[in-house]
Amino acid sequence: MTTLLLNPGPVVLSERVRKALLKPDLCHREQEFIDLQNKIRTELLNVYNLSVKDWASIVFTGSGTSAMEAMMTSLIPAHGKVLIIENGVYGERLTKIAQIHDIAHVVAHHEWGDEIDLVKIEGELQYHKEISHVAVVHHETTTGRLNDIDAIAELCNKHGNIPLLLDAVSSFGAEEIKFEGWNIAACAATANKCLHAVPGTSFVIANRTAMKQMSATPSRTLYLDLVTYLKNQDANGTPFTQSVHTFYALAEALDELNDAGGWKKRQQLYWQRMDIVRDGLQQLNINACLEREQCSCVLNSFPLPEGISYETLHDKLKTAGFVIYAGQGDFAKSRFRISCMGEMSNSDMERLIKEIGKIFNP
Ligand SMILES: Cc1ncc(COP(=O)(O)O)c(C=O)c1O
Repeated sequence: MTTLLLNPGPVVLSERVRKALLKPDLCHREQEFIDLQNKIRTELLNVYNLSVKDWASIVFTGSGTSAMEAMMTSLIPAHGKVLIIENGVYGERLTKIAQIHDIAHVVAHHEWGDEIDLVKIEGELQYHKEISHVAVVHHETTTGRLNDIDAIAELCNKHGNIPLLLDAVSSFGAEEIKFEGWNIAACAATANKCLHAVPGTSFVIANRTAMKQMSATPSRTLYLDLVTYLKNQDANGTPFTQSVHTFYALAEALDELNDAGGWKKRQQLYWQRMDIVRDGLQQLNINACLEREQCSCVLNSFPLPEGISYETLHDKLKTAGFVIYAGQGDFAKSRFRISCMGEMSNSDMERLIKEIGKIFNP
């Protein structure tokens, strides 16, 4: 029996993507690899119809956190200051990155899962006139909340057209991202979530004007410096050895996304699956932690019923062929999370609900 991964990445691969991992071994300095890298860079821009003149996709070896760290260290100049909005683990991770790299920052903290308080954000922007960037997570996977980037971007626009640094690690490829409308300087993402490829490759989509401004600024990092990557990749190279086989998988997964109709179709598909889960759990008297319109289609969180521990639910579901995900931090004992990325069908979700029903009402 195949185990279905309902954790927020890595995802269950399609056979097509899995087979791509077995393509011939390649040297990362040969033309074949450069062609592969160029194809990925072009296709990543095509996911959101971005022009190569204004936008650059920069692809490298690492997990989603490496893309967050590359974005934060490479897009904020030495004299800059970033307002970091926290309402979950990944917003707090952006702050940790700023602390480690000594990046001047202000934090707008919210409890995990809370809606971003726009009055508070506006207050920070009014008080700290020196803020040069705002960093925020798009889909905060801690809780499944899809943050209201429209509203944040509007405030940034009102207070001096401040550019956004967006963690779209768990939304790129399945949620709307308004690169131009939100005045995005850069957006961090990864291959192994909504794009359905394997862990190992991550990327940043950056505005070329923003990158040009950074080329005169000293680097904060060697390995994750996006200016170096961009210079090399635009010149048909790579500064470091890339994870060649995961590149094959990403290229195939991008073709597969295209063939399936692009991000909007993927969003629809995820919602079909998630609605089966939300409605099915509601029938079992488990209401999702957030309203549907507050959530991403990618992952939702649910309260554990009285008397059932996460470990019991997880282990029994694993025996039935499903891997679910625990709540993070203080939510570990009270919540579980279900993601619906990857190769699966609606009937898999129906079977999941049946199995959960057997555990909740034996
Ligand atoms: C929103 C968000 N940002 C960053 C990350 C970190 O990604 P990784 O675990 O691949 O480093 C995750 C992982 O789930 C995430 O959901």
